[in-house]
Amino acid sequence: MPIKSVLKATGAYLPEKVLTNADLEKMVDTSDEWIQQRSGIKTRHVAAEEQTTADLAIEAAKQALERSGLSPDYIDGVIVATTTPDQTFPSVAVKVQAALGIPAGLAFDVQAVCTGFVYALSVADNFIKTGQAKNIIVVGAEKMSSIIDWDDRTTCVLFADGAGAVVLSGNEAEDSVSAQGIHSTHLYAKGELRDLLYTDGGPSSTGQSGHIVMHGREVFKYAVTFMADAVNDALAENNVSAEDIDWLVPHQANIRIIEATAKKLNMSMDKVVVTVDHHGNTSAASIPLALNEAVEDGRVKEGDLLLLEAMGGGLTWGSALVRF
Ligand code: ACO
Repeated sequence: MPIKSVLKATGAYLPEKVLTNADLEKMVDTSDEWIQQRSGIKTRHVAAEEQTTADLAIEAAKQALERSGLSPDYIDGVIVATTTPDQTFPSVAVKVQAALGIPAGLAFDVQAVCTGFVYALSVADNFIKTGQAKNIIVVGAEKMSSIIDWDDRTTCVLFADGAGAVVLSGNEAEDSVSAQGIHSTHLYAKGELRDLLYTDGGPSSTGQSGHIVMHGREVFKYAVTFMADAVNDALAENNVSAEDIDWLVPHQANIRIIEATAKKLNMSMDKVVVTVDHHGNTSAASIPLALNEAVEDGRVKEGDLLLLEAMGGGLTWGSALVRF
């Protein structure tokens, strides 16, 4: 029988500090009404100055590992999706590995901006399916506040900090979409659109990490089309329809993008996990954060069919179909 990567447990961490739209009104020329209307965001969490991405990732990974019931000795790998590592190197993943007392195995970061978690999940799934690893912790963690230009009202109202994690475990299962585990991942990139969303710096160019620059209107246009395409590819490959999906767990960039994608798929918003209102856009952390919240509050149950989808800088985009 083939091996499927089963989502054994989820975990999350959000920094204590909450930044409201009213707080942002005092910092830049904006309004609660504009932010809510254009993005759906009301509040977001922001890390303390001394808190790094690894600090957030470690807390989320620790919770997922504890809930999985696995000993650190059984973890074969840690993969962290992040755009905001503590240092150029070593990776955030090796810090997570050390902090959790995982004695050996692989550890590395994946960088695909807001699509990072879907990319990392796909990489981990392939290690597990081929038998090269049995248990892998996949984390999405970001301190987006560290690359925001806090004087730029077009971006500073959107991005936020946090971390989410899952433990994936290889299990022999029948080759049917009714089996638990990841059934497909689809990853895409279109480098010619990289100038729509980028940081104006980096280690080998300016020597600084730079700040986010985004051409929001154009990104918005591509986001709806690309995410709907990625979702349709997942449905077609698995021979399932949108009605078979119990929960759509989208990247939380903007409520209008989420609603437009759901509409394109003819899916009711009752089947969509939405956290953008209180998380903001946490880039690679947004999907595992949303998933963990829906698991914790009982919306997502064992056996549910989940469709994850994301789109971000690169441009990159992708989807994953998972039986929880
Ligand atoms: N407060 C008040 N006014 C503002 C603000 C603000 N914070 N920001 C911009 N405006 C103004 C603009 O200057 C513009 O004014 P003008 O008409 O006088 O020029 C007006 O509001 C409209 O601006 P738009 O950019 O056209 O607004 P839009 O409706 O497109 O919303 C937004 C902007 C929220 C950024 C939207 O375009 C969006 O969500 N884009 C996609 C973001 C995304 O999905 N990113 C991908 C993932 S992120 C990643 O990978 C890192």
